[in-house]
Amino acid sequence: MDKLLIHGGARLDGEVPISGAKNAALPILCASLLVPGTFEIDNVPQLQDVGTTIKLLGRMGVVSERDGSTVRLDASGVTHFEAAYDLVATMRASILVLGPLVARFGEARVSLPGGCAIGQRPVDQHIKGLQLLGAEIEIEHGYVIARASRLRGTRIITDMVTVTGTENLLMAATLAEGETIIENAAREPEVVDLALALNALGARIRGAGTDRIVIEGVQALHGGRHRVMSDRIEAGTFLCAVAAAGGELRLTGCEPSTLDATLEKLREAGLQIETGPDWIRAVMRGRPRAVNLRTAPYPGLATDMQAQFMAVNCVAEGTSVITETIFENRFMHVQEMRRLGADIDAQGNTAVVRGVAGLSGAIVMATDLRASAGLVIAGLVARGDTLVDRIYHLDRGYDRMERKLAAVGAHIERVRTVVDA
Ligand code: UD1
Repeated sequence: MDKLLIHGGARLDGEVPISGAKNAALPILCASLLVPGTFEIDNVPQLQDVGTTIKLLGRMGVVSERDGSTVRLDASGVTHFEAAYDLVATMRASILVLGPLVARFGEARVSLPGGCAIGQRPVDQHIKGLQLLGAEIEIEHGYVIARASRLRGTRIITDMVTVTGTENLLMAATLAEGETIIENAAREPEVVDLALALNALGARIRGAGTDRIVIEGVQALHGGRHRVMSDRIEAGTFLCAVAAAGGELRLTGCEPSTLDATLEKLREAGLQIETGPDWIRAVMRGRPRAVNLRTAPYPGLATDMQAQFMAVNCVAEGTSVITETIFENRFMHVQEMRRLGADIDAQGNTAVVRGVAGLSGAIVMATDLRASAGLVIAGLVARGDTLVDRIYHLDRGYDRMERKLAAVGAHIERVRTVVDA
């Protein structure tokens, strides 16, 4: 298992190209299942999760071709309608094939994801919505089995705001007979990007980006092309890195308008920020100020930024309160940050972080994707060497993070572990 070795203390200085968004690319790749033709997707990031999704689609009979950041998918010859446990267990987003499969083929067999490090994460809303659209659903041997002749448009009100739930239902409704309305829909920019991609394939969707999405079902989609939006969480992660470590970064290929809550908090923390249409310049002199934060569905502060902000608060001047409202167990990084000398008390969904003047390097273990990013940021600031173990989590969702960090002055290297045969 690879590890990252970080020698802390270096300031960050230079330019960071931001990749395509993981959380937009995954549903958009799955949307190819709706199309009896070629779907060309640009700006696809190089991530483990993207590879897993392409493998999952390949097992169903989707033919893929990758050329740099462009992926061409052809789902004309799909013959299997199953997402097996082995892949779903490594990537929960596999559930995103459920809606497209049942909508186009009237049949789907998808392993239930089960719990994960950050909480229970049920998929009951995906199932409820598909049932309302007319699918018959059974749970058997750990699999969701869905059947339908043709889905029928309906009104769905989700019990809570769910991002992949909204996306699954959005995809399914594109081929339903008549109109579907999704109320309490997630407003995340990734949902908007998926809707744009689907519309480019012939779907009729309006209202994406609001909590009421209206989908006029069509008989069939057709081939087309889409460029994946830029990754706002990757951009936010680099901004937190410079806020903690100090220096000056220019992020390119990003979409500042999707980062409002993050930029506001970082300004409060003392980061000087300038934005253009597709770039952000951030300068940090001195120590950050502690900022209170509470995660919330978009346009609130993303739960996927919580661990990175915690790393900033660990070395900030003052005390902060962080409240996690989306996932019940998303403070796994607290114990690891404490090993670096951070002063954090966590109880339930609240953490109190008393900023310390400095952290000191140690061996820490990554527990999930964004926790790993928080630990890397803490390692960039800590005195001496920090070894971040289990970085396969990081590889799942960040496009060559250590190379991008090294290019702006961080002392960071991947330590490859050779497993004896
Ligand atoms: C997506 C993102 C993830 C992000 C999360 C919240 C992708 C691939 N992943 O995950 O990075 O952290 O949004 O912004 O886009 N819930 C239910 N029942 C359901 C669905 C959700 O109870 O059927 C609950 C979840 O347990 C959680 C909350 O609703 O407490 C929000 O989860 P959701 O928005 O669905 O997260 P994901 O779509 O899995």
